[in-house]
Amino acid sequence: MLLPDSFLQELKLRCNIEDIVSNYVNLKRQGKTLVATCPFHNEKTPSFYVYPESGSFYCFGCGAGGDVITFIRMIENLDYIESVKFISQKIGLSLPESNYDDSFNKLRLRIYEANRDTAKFYHNMLFSADGKDALDYLYKRGLTYSTIKHFGLGFSPNNRFALVNYLRKKGYTDFEIVQANLAFKGKSGVPFDRFFNRVMFPIIDLRGNVIAFGGRIMGDGKPKYLNTSDTPSFKKNSNLFALNFAKNNCSKRLILSEGYMDVISLHQAGFENSVATLGTSLTQEQVKLISRYSNEVVIAYDSDEAGQKATKRAIELFRGSGVSIKVLTIPKGKDPDEFIRSNGKDGILRFKNLLEQCCNDIEYSLNKLKSQINLDVPEGKVKYLTQACILLSSIDNRFEREIYAHKLSEEIEVQKSSIMLQIEKLIKQREKKSEKKQLKDLQSKIFEDGKKVNPERNKNLRAAHAEEALIAFLMNNPDIYVYIENRLPSSKFLTQFNKMIYEKILKRIKDNKPISLTDLSQDLSIDEISYIAKFLAKYIPSDNLKESVDEYIDIMLYENNKITESEAANTSIDEIRKYIDKLKELKK
Ligand code: UTP
Ligand code: MN
Repeated sequence: MLLPDSFLQELKLRCNIEDIVSNYVNLKRQGKTLVATCPFHNEKTPSFYVYPESGSFYCFGCGAGGDVITFIRMIENLDYIESVKFISQKIGLSLPESNYDDSFNKLRLRIYEANRDTAKFYHNMLFSADGKDALDYLYKRGLTYSTIKHFGLGFSPNNRFALVNYLRKKGYTDFEIVQANLAFKGKSGVPFDRFFNRVMFPIIDLRGNVIAFGGRIMGDGKPKYLNTSDTPSFKKNSNLFALNFAKNNCSKRLILSEGYMDVISLHQAGFENSVATLGTSLTQEQVKLISRYSNEVVIAYDSDEAGQKATKRAIELFRGSGVSIKVLTIPKGKDPDEFIRSNGKDGILRFKNLLEQCCNDIEYSLNKLKSQINLDVPEGKVKYLTQACILLSSIDNRFEREIYAHKLSEEIEVQKSSIMLQIEKLIKQREKKSEKKQLKDLQSKIFEDGKKVNPERNKNLRAAHAEEALIAFLMNNPDIYVYIENRLPSSKFLTQFNKMIYEKILKRIKDNKPISLTDLSQDLSIDEISYIAKFLAKYIPSDNLKESVDEYIDIMLYENNKITESEAANTSIDEIRKYIDKLKELKK
């Protein structure tokens, strides 16, 4: 189940946290520690610390913390074993076989295989007699044979057991088929196909795995599209449709549209740098993904009201991601697919023109604003100026702000300097507000996480502080464990989580096992590891003098005693008598 200690020792020896972390952030040395701006939350002043001596990191801003494995878990979004593999590969260490629980990973691989077989099955069905209507449907929508082949489109037959039966014959268990979300289990416990009588769009990740499907009904029924829900092998929030094709053509710019059909149509028209979200609105993870592959994104959403709302949201998400933002406006409430097809022979050329004309996010938003306000009357002008200044205050680059302020001053005939003054004022206000709010949000998040990990902490703050300082001391000075344990049996701990960690550490020391965060963290959650990393960061070794150990222990004993006394006060007279008798006996 668990990785052997010897393996973790080797890993710790060969990989230092500083090297791994510096692949992601720009670390600056500050004495024994290293500092950077935190990769897990937005900040301007660095509060992310790496402690090479204890092999740990902690962010005083957002509370993220742990050892090197935790860092990879968080930043690469991997599970524990995957993270160990990731690091091992980097440092050329091979994982011990069969010593850990691999069942989850095995399931993921089986789901990839089942999905691949399913994609083939659907694809073959499309070209069978049963798939005739579906194939006609795709042709009618303007797709060519080679596009259908390229995207591996398919057809799920109108029979609720077609796929399940096929996959069973191929050796997949019902459990695997259901986990892949290719089938549902009915009330009777019999699984039946999730997709039937739909045109199928396989979704492929960057490594070429089939990870999910979208299925479109061939008429007007509802739901129009059905998508694979999240599975052990698929997260719809962090993937994009057709990025597997687009990734080679999109370093300069990437076109983001809303639908599968838009993307397919665009690729067919030669715009192979198009991708789409997977049936949800855009997420921060997808923005990150896009920024990894591209310098510029063209938002090409439907020009209907919903599409425009989504555009506004997307612009907000992309701001600050480092990707420059363009917005393409399609005339007459159409989506890219409809636009290209409705323009017949000229469709491609016209779309190219749209791309050339597309404006950046600020121009887009200003135009939008203008179209909603009457500029012929003074109140309209004031309203426009006010809103426009709010918009311009969101631009990071000062020159850019100047350029738009200049345009605005000519447009509305107001002095540029007063526009700039207003913008700077708004920026200052916002910075003040957002920094405060961010800090407050983060602090309360850390507080909530801490409460989950160690619920008794808030009721026993003084004791908990002492417990944590003591554990930090013990982790840095395991040699004096005998002294500590003699003075302080674990029963004196007032908070359960700290008690559990204390016992775990003592046991490991007695068994002659190492006790770094990496050694302890295998069966702990990320929140739990961050919790420990926090007090390790707070009580760094140089602070730990032996006198303070006695002080911590005294505090704990005192607090423990206080609790016992107050418990006594709340008990019945009988019990108090017994208690007093006991005390008397003890004194003898
Ligand atoms: P649209 O309704 O704009 O459809 O949904 P579309 O892409 O233009 O599709 P066609 O041209 O009518 O075939 C955009 C995207 O939203 C998701 C799908 O990913 C779709 O491609 N969607 C839409 C769903 O997941 N479920 C739905 O019921 C509808
Ligand atoms: Mn469409």
